[in-house]
Amino acid sequence: MRYVKSKFLFVFSVSALCIGTLALAHTGVKNMTVMARMQSMSALGDSVKVLGEMVKGNQAFDAAEARAAAEAIARHARETPTLFEAPETDPKSEALPVIWEDFTSFVAKSEALETVAADLAVSMQAEADLRSGLARIGTACKACHEVYRK
Ligand code: HEC
Repeated sequence: MRYVKSKFLFVFSVSALCIGTLALAHTGVKNMTVMARMQSMSALGDSVKVLGEMVKGNQAFDAAEARAAAEAIARHARETPTLFEAPETDPKSEALPVIWEDFTSFVAKSEALETVAADLAVSMQAEADLRSGLARIGTACKACHEVYRK
């Protein structure tokens, strides 16, 4: 009986966690500067997801929508240096202190992403362009995360 009860509680809390993940992703972040940069990063993730769904075929290729998503990525990449300029932190932050030891390189990585995304936003005609463009965008995200994120 006791076992059944705890199992029920376990299943319940796991599903509650899953439902809550999206809305509560930033819960507990107290530093507003950190919150703002996390939100901008989440927006980057959302735009990449739009492109990813088209590449996977879960959503039909739509050049206008894909270009808009690439444009949004370029826009967020452009604001990354400003959002990270202050060496703010928070227990929930995944930012590594090396960002502010070598801020010039951090900015260069933001610019690399901006260039790739802005380029794709104007050049994309067909699904093949999206495929190669998304790979380049993913590489640019990873290049920064590898060095500057926990
Ligand atoms: C110039 C560096 C840089 C680039 C480029 C970059 N990121 Fe980030 N990203 C970071 C850092 C640093 C953090 C950790 C921020 C923190 O927790 O304070 C982060 C965090 C994130 C997070 C977690 C946000 C949260 O809610 O805590 C997501 C999602 C994310 N990045 C997605 C992306 C995607 C997608 C791209 C490419 C389109 C990208 N990032 C490009 C540096 C970068």
